[in-house]
Amino acid sequence: MVKIAVTNLAGQTRDIEAEVGLSLMENIRNNDFDDLAAICGGCCSCCTCHVFVNGDDYQKLPAMEDDEQYLLEDSEHYQSGASRLSCQIEVDDSLDGLSVTIAPEA
Ligand code: FES
Repeated sequence: MVKIAVTNLAGQTRDIEAEVGLSLMENIRNNDFDDLAAICGGCCSCCTCHVFVNGDDYQKLPAMEDDEQYLLEDSEHYQSGASRLSCQIEVDDSLDGLSVTIAPEA
């Protein structure tokens, strides 16, 4: 298990014990954060799993594929150096201590 801090749209933060091998989106949803709609189920086609990665944690993540980048840049809430689609991030041990904030829907 990997500890990840998740902040919801109301600004409330809760640590979750994330399961390695699942996506960050699945872990957030499995821990009852209803703010993350994840409508497409992780197919990288909806942008409703958008999160902001807090602080320097963004550097821990693998680089984005082009389709993720295009979707995020179309979002009115896109923040360079912070925005990621949580369905495209597979949780592994290197993400222990990660901190993310759920983004408003576009
Ligand atoms: S769940 Fe749709 S893009 Fe991530």
